[in-house]
Amino acid sequence: MIDLRSDTVTRPTPGMLDAMMHARLGDDVLGDDPTVQALESHVADLFGHEAGVLCPSGTMTNQIAIHVHTRPGDEVLCEEGAHVYRYEGGGMMANSGCSVKHLPADRGRFTAEAVAWAVNDRTQDYLANTSLVVVENTVNRGGGAVWDIAEARRIRNTCDAQGLKMHLDGARIFNALEVEGTDARQWGALFDSVSICLSKGLGAPVGSVLIGPAPFIAQARRVRKRFGGGMRQAGLLAAAGLYALEHHIARLVEDHDRARRIAEVLSVSNGCARVLPVHTNIIIYDLAAGSDAKAHVAALAAHGVHCFAIGPDQVRMITHLDIDDAAVDATITALRSVFDGISTDPNSPIH
Ligand SMILES: Cc1ncc(COP(=O)(O)O)c(C=O)c1O
Repeated sequence: MIDLRSDTVTRPTPGMLDAMMHARLGDDVLGDDPTVQALESHVADLFGHEAGVLCPSGTMTNQIAIHVHTRPGDEVLCEEGAHVYRYEGGGMMANSGCSVKHLPADRGRFTAEAVAWAVNDRTQDYLANTSLVVVENTVNRGGGAVWDIAEARRIRNTCDAQGLKMHLDGARIFNALEVEGTDARQWGALFDSVSICLSKGLGAPVGSVLIGPAPFIAQARRVRKRFGGGMRQAGLLAAAGLYALEHHIARLVEDHDRARRIAEVLSVSNGCARVLPVHTNIIIYDLAAGSDAKAHVAALAAHGVHCFAIGPDQVRMITHLDIDDAAVDATITALRSVFDGISTDPNSPIH
């Protein structure tokens, strides 16, 4: 089975399992698991923040951040396809009582002007209090699009001018850094809090770390407990995370190259109308008008290639640690069989 449904499907490598087996453990709810503490301070330090807190999922780190940054009745600004809005079970609304205003965006990336326009006038009692902006980098629903740090800086300035907090959903921030070439600390400096996932491209089985200033993380710890995210011998998971940070960042470029190889074939396939330019490890493509994405996904599955339909005629594939060159070759063979064939037109557009 070639599993391109998500980069969350990876299995721990032998080296990672070995690191887990030898982890020093304590009880993290009692505050004495040394491996969890090492992971939290390592991630915080990487991004230049004071403290971190390990959680079971990126959903929990995002939701805790939103909860700490806002008050019930506040309004959060994000893009329509943002994970925090679309794929976290309505958590912003249910957990924190916030409303949401969607910002116009290009593949999930919005501008400082869009933020400035969207902020409600605080002198008007009938308007919700806009208090938080959420940026996602890379943008999952935007096909792994990478933000330009210059725009993120402009948004930071707008947030400072308007008294807004800024949270980064950095589930795949290391994929973004590989492409953008900036230092993690430059990104960390722009945000009041950052969520980093260890279980996506980095290949750990479980875990996300929320980082920020020490008082913010102290509050986040309390909310984590309330949300049911306090874990006991979590050093087992933290050891996998530390191993992933040491061994699996430099190889992300391989996932990006492999995603590009698949996209190049798609872009010249009859029956594929458009491929979003690949920035990182996510491939999103549109089928020709009248096609059915679910039927296309089922046809690929019959060839052993698994991916997701994310719209009536839109499909997503994600490369990761467990997808090697042979898996890419097999995916390309399956695509050739499922589509009518590869265009021989030399002018066929590479979208
Ligand atoms: C951009 C983004 N943020 C947050 C999450 C949530 O992570 P988790 O599945 O660990 O809750 C995901 C999951 O895929 C994601 O893609």
